[in-house]
Amino acid sequence: MHDPLSPTTRLPIDSDADLSRVRQRVRQAAADLGFRLVPQTKLVTAASELARNTLVHGGGGHMEMTLLGDGARRGLRLSFVDTGPGIPDVERAMTDGYSTGGGLGLGLGGARRLVREFALDTRPGRGTTVTITDWATGLPSPRTGAS
Ligand SMILES: Nc1ncnc2c1ncn2[C@@H]1O[C@H](COP(=O)(O)OP(=O)(O)O)[C@@H](O)[C@H]1O
Ligand SMILES: [Mg+2]
Repeated sequence: MHDPLSPTTRLPIDSDADLSRVRQRVRQAAADLGFRLVPQTKLVTAASELARNTLVHGGGGHMEMTLLGDGARRGLRLSFVDTGPGIPDVERAMTDGYSTGGGLGLGLGGARRLVREFALDTRPGRGTTVTITDWATGLPSPRTGAS
């Protein structure tokens, strides 16, 4: 279902400063849509891990953020897109503790557990897109000012 008031925003992920902008924008959008504080934090944490993977493992890319309206439900869909090396063994990459980069290896598995919908699309040599979607259960917070 298409909601004309729900645009898609694209943010670059090419630096640590971009990671912090991504976190801020996701937090703000989730708050605007009525996500309660704990779900907000879960979504921001998942987004932070996925954006860091885009930067560190994917060599940079972008996040696409779409505000979803499904009847009375409001949600957020976040896609993390890179054109890096891809993930040759997705099952292994999803396993807690597995890292090719000396990390904790908890990013992908952790992100999947933190949100309601998780999809990973990757092609070796072509890139990776991870998409997460979550829905607000609270009431939208009142907007201040015009439009
Ligand atoms: N966007 C990506 N592009 C390529 N490889 C990725 C990407 N995201 C994750 N991976 C692979 O999956 C592994 C596990 O990711 P993650 O659970 O976030 O752990 P960590 O980032 O700590 O290594 C990474 O070590 C890497 O090999
Ligand atoms: Mg990671």
